[in-house]
Amino acid sequence: MGAAMYCEKLENVVFDQKLLNEYLDSLLSRLTYNVKDVAIIDLINYSGGDVLSKPSEQKNWSTWMDIPEFKRSRPGWAVIDRERDRTIVDLEECKALGILHQSLFQERTSAFFGYIENVCQSLSHRGIQLTHTWLACFAPGRGYTRHYHAARHDYFRVLHVPIRTDPSIKMRFFSDCDVEGELPLEEHHLSQGDCFLIDGSVVHDVINVSDRERWHMCSIVYDLKDNFSLGKGGSEAFASHRHQAEIWRNYVANGQGSRFLDWK
Ligand SMILES: [Fe+2]
Repeated sequence: MGAAMYCEKLENVVFDQKLLNEYLDSLLSRLTYNVKDVAIIDLINYSGGDVLSKPSEQKNWSTWMDIPEFKRSRPGWAVIDRERDRTIVDLEECKALGILHQSLFQERTSAFFGYIENVCQSLSHRGIQLTHTWLACFAPGRGYTRHYHAARHDYFRVLHVPIRTDPSIKMRFFSDCDVEGELPLEEHHLSQGDCFLIDGSVVHDVINVSDRERWHMCSIVYDLKDNFSLGKGGSEAFASHRHQAEIWRNYVANGQGSRFLDWK
């Protein structure tokens, strides 16, 4: 296999494995529900909320990803206009639901504490701008089926900090969602304590084939200081993100401007 194109390791950074584990143990002891199958626990999001006591924060993403429509789009308020390769967000719906802001992620949840705070801080110092940030847990046997994130949407640059994993678990990249038996174009084990950026616009999957839980911190990021050679998503893209955020706020909070966000 030549140089990896879809998964890149951040150079000169290693996060303390012992402290990562301590953070996770402490988090798990605070949860008031059991993690089953797949759990998503927000660290930085757009609405805050008590993520430690709300089992509803758990989503069965495996099942969700199996719905054909979702293999190629994203849920929520965004509608993918495939013909024009655009993502349209109906802000009227956000207004009705009181979603003040989805695209400027600043709220730290109650899961944001301890060493994970240091991890996020040192990424920020490197010029890695975190937006939506969460912990993802796959129980043994669980994972994501093949899917990709819309290439023209912000959500394809996914940073991973593996906290607890097993060398047998691989993230695999493919050319297509549906070709039976296709060999992966690339496959990578994302090792504990390291930090990786993956290009989610390329079809990928991951299955926890081990017998222990796999925990990763994940974040949708902008790379403001060229840490990665994955060239998309620098300061220009971040400026555009902030501009979209402004349009969002104008309509949802003040009822001004366009009802639709054309998220190119
Ligand atoms: Fe993905």
